[in-house]
Amino acid sequence: MTTSKIFLQIDHISKRFGYTLAVDNVSLDIYRGEIFALLGSSGCGKSTLLRMLAGFETPTTGRVLLDGQDVTDLPPYERPMNMMFQSYALFPHMNVWDNIAFGLRRDGVSKDELNQRVEDMLQLVQLQKFAKRSPHQLSGGQQQRVALARSLAKRPQLLMLDEPLGALDKKLREQTQVELVNIIKQVGVTCVMVTHDQDEAMTMADRIAVMSEGRLLQVGTPNDVYENPNCRFVADFVGNVNLFDGEVSEYEADHVVVHSPVCDFYVGHGITGSLGMPVSVALRPEKVLLSKDKPEGDHNAVACVLKDWSYFGSFTSYSLRLPNGQHIKVSVTNADRDQEAIEEGQTVWAHWQDNAMVVLTQ
Ligand SMILES: Nc1ncnc2c1ncn2[C@@H]1O[C@H](COP(=O)(O)OP(=O)(O)O)[C@@H](O)[C@H]1O
Ligand SMILES: [Mg+2]
Repeated sequence: MTTSKIFLQIDHISKRFGYTLAVDNVSLDIYRGEIFALLGSSGCGKSTLLRMLAGFETPTTGRVLLDGQDVTDLPPYERPMNMMFQSYALFPHMNVWDNIAFGLRRDGVSKDELNQRVEDMLQLVQLQKFAKRSPHQLSGGQQQRVALARSLAKRPQLLMLDEPLGALDKKLREQTQVELVNIIKQVGVTCVMVTHDQDEAMTMADRIAVMSEGRLLQVGTPNDVYENPNCRFVADFVGNVNLFDGEVSEYEADHVVVHSPVCDFYVGHGITGSLGMPVSVALRPEKVLLSKDKPEGDHNAVACVLKDWSYFGSFTSYSLRLPNGQHIKVSVTNADRDQEAIEEGQTVWAHWQDNAMVVLTQ
């Protein structure tokens, strides 16, 4: 983040379509120069929120302020913003150069200025050599970059991307994510993007808002949201997680114990709550270690039976049955070429650090 100055203020925005409350009282500040991702599953209201920022949808209640100016009642074309849609629809009959120049021509930008801006954009997205090609002669990733160049040519102050990479296959998508971030950061434009893909949000965004049913559940850096989810939904939606229900059986300033049918979880820090409170313990699969022998120490270790495993190249994912019949997911990095094999049906110890868990109260 270049500065922490608030650039876009979303102030108690709601949108109702008939009986559907698509966006439910969202307030959010977005900083100048940051890439911000709205993350959530299909239908949670991401596009509706973005479309209200762009002016394509009128909020039922609430205001949108850009750089301190209330833009809620401005039509889209009077807002210093540009939106790039999921189907980035380049004009098929125009070559790359003309596609990028389109918006500038329409705005009556002078010829010299227009030439200069298009050349700058071609250089920015590294497509100088492709200026005369038509869109169908480009790969999906290149088309994506033309669409971005076209969006940036008008020098919007806010760039909005709705599922920008949805049309690309996995490998190309990962590569294009990095390219887009580099270009956006180079230009310095503030960017709000929408995605249902948590990896995409984690890779591209400075901050993420996790959305569900029109509401923001948590806003934070990718690291925050992953390491300190504030509720079960976020813990489960962002990454893989084991969730165990229990109740607080020991409540101290520097540690708590959560009693559950699985084991007594010893959590090495205090929580806001009280003795006897029902909670869930969230434990990421990669924070669990496996060993054949009983580990040292007297807590956070359970003997379990290997039920199933899958090899993913860089890591192996295990599913183990706990004494009470529940399962725990464990992922282990394949750091060595000679992994010590664990066989299905074998008993192993799953264990983890006192600070590996997050205690969730909602
Ligand atoms: N123009 C509309 N008319 C009626 N309902 C709509 C309209 N646009 C979106 N919705 C509804 O609002 C909810 C949120 O949709 P949307 O914002 O497109 O979700 P997302 O982008 O997260 O998939 C959905 O239930 C959707 O059916
Ligand atoms: Mg959408």
